[in-house]
Amino acid sequence: MAISTSDEAGELSTRAQNAQGQDFQELAKRHLWMHFTRMGAYDDHDIPIIVRGEGCYVYDDKGKRYLDGLSGLFCVNAGHGRKEMAEVAAEQIQQLGFYTNWSYAHPRSIEAAAKIAELAPGDLNRVFFTSGGGESVESAWKMAKAYHQMTGNARRTKLIARDLAYHGTFHGALAATGITALRTEFEPLAPGGLHVPNTNDYHKPIGHDPLLAADAIEEMIEFEGPDTVAAVILEPVQNAGGCFVPPDGYFQRVREICDRHGILLISDEVICSWGRLGHYFGHERFDYSPDIVTTAKGITSGYAPLGAVIATDAVAAPFMEGNRAFNHGITFGGHPLATAIALKNIEIFEREDLCGHVRAKEGEFADMLEGLRDLPIVGDVRGAGYFHAVELVKDKESRESFNEQECDVLLRGFLSNALFEKGLICRADDRGDPVIQLSPPLIADGEQFEEINGILRSVLTEAWEKVVRF
Ligand SMILES: Cc1ncc(COP(=O)(O)O)c(C=O)c1O
Repeated sequence: MAISTSDEAGELSTRAQNAQGQDFQELAKRHLWMHFTRMGAYDDHDIPIIVRGEGCYVYDDKGKRYLDGLSGLFCVNAGHGRKEMAEVAAEQIQQLGFYTNWSYAHPRSIEAAAKIAELAPGDLNRVFFTSGGGESVESAWKMAKAYHQMTGNARRTKLIARDLAYHGTFHGALAATGITALRTEFEPLAPGGLHVPNTNDYHKPIGHDPLLAADAIEEMIEFEGPDTVAAVILEPVQNAGGCFVPPDGYFQRVREICDRHGILLISDEVICSWGRLGHYFGHERFDYSPDIVTTAKGITSGYAPLGAVIATDAVAAPFMEGNRAFNHGITFGGHPLATAIALKNIEIFEREDLCGHVRAKEGEFADMLEGLRDLPIVGDVRGAGYFHAVELVKDKESRESFNEQECDVLLRGFLSNALFEKGLICRADDRGDPVIQLSPPLIADGEQFEEINGILRSVLTEAWEKVVRF
């Protein structure tokens, strides 16, 4: 592939083409089916084509630089353009391009499983590899069901998740996902997905009991019948809806409830692990002990597709006995290339102390975003680590939000484009109330925070004057 876009000095030239001289825009519009994308929106607009990445920045096909404030969808935690990732990939492919983990093992999946078990707290010692986050969630639910069946509780099949939470798009993972608009077209989903309130308290009355959301889990368990519930699945900080941080004591209460009813606690850390919250695992931040952890994305910093389900010794034990097995598998789960890259990623994390860097700098990052509260459109700022959301409101006093149509005009009609035009990639999202989400690479520092601040301030000011007041 030859990309004839920018020269070393960054000058713009003609549109990007492949080696055969075909225009990428034309090829993409004709053949590429983009995920969660209104393809029709590109009838009269260029598709953004990202061709290169370096550190906290990516470059498009016209040579323009963007600050990747989303780490390529919460993935590129160690930053873009790490040459040693390319080197380890080349070495691995030369040695063993592919072998599966069905009945066989290979050195990199063994080493990666051992390293992950070493980093995971407590007795989270058994690692089942997948190719991504949705597969991890799907696998964790099946693991919970099979565990209960093996331990004499075959009726325990249901999974409790939270309103608005995103856990993936497969029929099982989607049954855990609590976003109506993503589910409706695909019903019926896997049976047994139940939903309880999340920990968003911005629109709750002042003085409400912050642990009501935890107690709602117990109410759901009692309503359904405790002996029918397999597991509860929760993110340490809930992404969809805009970085809902749990109130103090929330996870401790949930743990007590799960223990009281013999239910497994799954911590969905597809986003919240690998340094995103300043620790290898998100549950370390909030000091609770899950039975199962699901992870993906930052496990390779996005350099290769990989996910994992990490189970405690107690959950894994019944599967290890006699002629039993976890009758579940994915051809590419724990691919040699992906696990080699995961090991290199962890080596980089340890060498550069990326978790420590996030803990040292997250205050500065949060302060910068808090500074935007003087803008009339900024209602709330929340999050943890390098994972924050800014909630947009029509009225700061009453906390009135925008309706669906207004959100469409504000987010899709203006903000997404304006932020991108000014060189910042972040997420303008209205799966709940409208928010802008930021999760930069973990190497980001003061210079990037300043840049984010400048762009957000000018675009949000313009949004208020041109879009909201208008
Ligand atoms: C918490 C959580 N679980 C699961 C998923 C699904 O991951 P994937 O898109 O890799 O299937 C995501 C994706 O963003 C996620 O954030």
